[in-house]
Amino acid sequence: MSNEPISLASALASFDALWSPRIATTVNDYDVRVAKVEGEHVWHVHDDTDEFFLVLGGELRIALREAAGERTVVLPRGSVFTVPRGTEHKPYAPVPTEILVIEPTGTSTVGDRHDEVPDHVDATTGHALN
Ligand code: NI
Repeated sequence: MSNEPISLASALASFDALWSPRIATTVNDYDVRVAKVEGEHVWHVHDDTDEFFLVLGGELRIALREAAGERTVVLPRGSVFTVPRGTEHKPYAPVPTEILVIEPTGTSTVGDRHDEVPDHVDATTGHALN
């Protein structure tokens, strides 16, 4: 982890891959990750951790499978949302979108259980910033 400030704009400008988060910094046992996203991610679930989203630019939608049924939350730029642990979810971005995600270090982007991972989705625990 850098002991200097991290410009999120510079961090996001340092890579092009979609659905492939970079670890901007850490706080206690959590990663603060940034990612560029567009199109569909994959249905998945994190059994043991909540997952925090902040939309930096664009618009993120997250489909959720809850006890009451399926719904989609819409997060314009500047919105935050936490997916509760154990809730199946599938992020989707209708336009090029930049997000910040906070979750425990080592958390996989495709969770503990998931549908088949498409080629455009990076199954990763996050990459270091260059
Ligand atoms: Ni997730």
